[in-house]
Amino acid sequence: MDGPGALIKLLERDGVICTRGTRLTPLGGGVSCEIYLVEDGDETFVVKRALAKLKVKADWFADISRNRHEWEYIRYVAKFLPEAVPALGHCSATDNYFAMEHLSGSFLNWKQLLLAGKANVEHASRAADILAQIHRHSDGDAEAMRLFDTTPNFFQLRIESYLLATGAKHPALRPLFETEAARLAGVRECLVHGDFSPKNILISPERMVVLDCEVAWYGEPAFDLAFLLNHFFLKALLHAPKDAAMRPMIDKFWIDYQMVRPSPEMEPRVGRLLLMLMLARVDGKSPVEYLDPKRREFIREFVQEQLPVENFSLRRISDLWFDCLGKFGK
Ligand SMILES: Nc1ncnc2c1ncn2[C@@H]1O[C@H](COP(=O)(O)OP(=O)(O)O)[C@@H](O)[C@H]1O
Ligand SMILES: [Mg+2]
Repeated sequence: MDGPGALIKLLERDGVICTRGTRLTPLGGGVSCEIYLVEDGDETFVVKRALAKLKVKADWFADISRNRHEWEYIRYVAKFLPEAVPALGHCSATDNYFAMEHLSGSFLNWKQLLLAGKANVEHASRAADILAQIHRHSDGDAEAMRLFDTTPNFFQLRIESYLLATGAKHPALRPLFETEAARLAGVRECLVHGDFSPKNILISPERMVVLDCEVAWYGEPAFDLAFLLNHFFLKALLHAPKDAAMRPMIDKFWIDYQMVRPSPEMEPRVGRLLLMLMLARVDGKSPVEYLDPKRREFIREFVQEQLPVENFSLRRISDLWFDCLGKFGK
């Protein structure tokens, strides 16, 4: 059973709450879980519990074991970057929930900052450092490989719903999407977050904290880079013709990632995935909500033109994108 009543019973049974009159307040934003702020006497924390069916229009089910992968990811990262993840409380593998520190006070959601046009290269630099450290630490790590052996989950939530669903809508590009889907499913390089998006990153002056790690997968790190970079490109399009200063963030993110985990051979993998994810956020199963039809068409034209060229230099993609954006709406 789902819902706050059932959750309170579970928390009482497991000794996570100990007073009467505990208050549960839903935290906004979730599509795949129940997430509540819990006020129990003097204690305040957050509890997240997986739902078997996502709260989106299309029927979209996911394996609830992803809740365990989320707290395993947080626990794994906390060993070497404790500040970059919320402190963990009780974790229940049997009832698919966990408790964590409530990040309150001066924390802001990065997506809200970007939507409001508040670009900051320092944020890109911090995100690059965190991501590169997680990738570097887990490179070839047998424990991470065992804990995050989640390819079927990643296939369902990312490869199928982003790549294959998008390819199916673009017959001319379909073979490229299918080839990439097959390649991606076979990579085992390091620990991937899988949803490394500004909406899942909270920022305070002292700390940047990564949330929502339920798509964690031991696989292809280029996915995390392309996923985040895509958000910068889309925010630039959202704000065009106004220059939202996204280009410096894109460049800084890539450069700073390379400083911590040099992997120049990854660039074409990132570039290809970036183009595919751009189109996926228009025609895949999880489209962005903030782009108007003209901007969605801009993406289709850009990707249809660039993907078959097979030149995935990030500088080239950025130059072309911002060149086209400069002419947007004129
Ligand atoms: N520990 C936390 N402290 C404060 N806010 C949180 C915390 N965990 C989640 N949130 C808020 O709730 C939102 C949804 O949580 P998230 O883990 O991203 O769930 P979903 O998988 O449904 O997207 C986040 O975007 C964030 O705004
Ligand atoms: Mg989220």
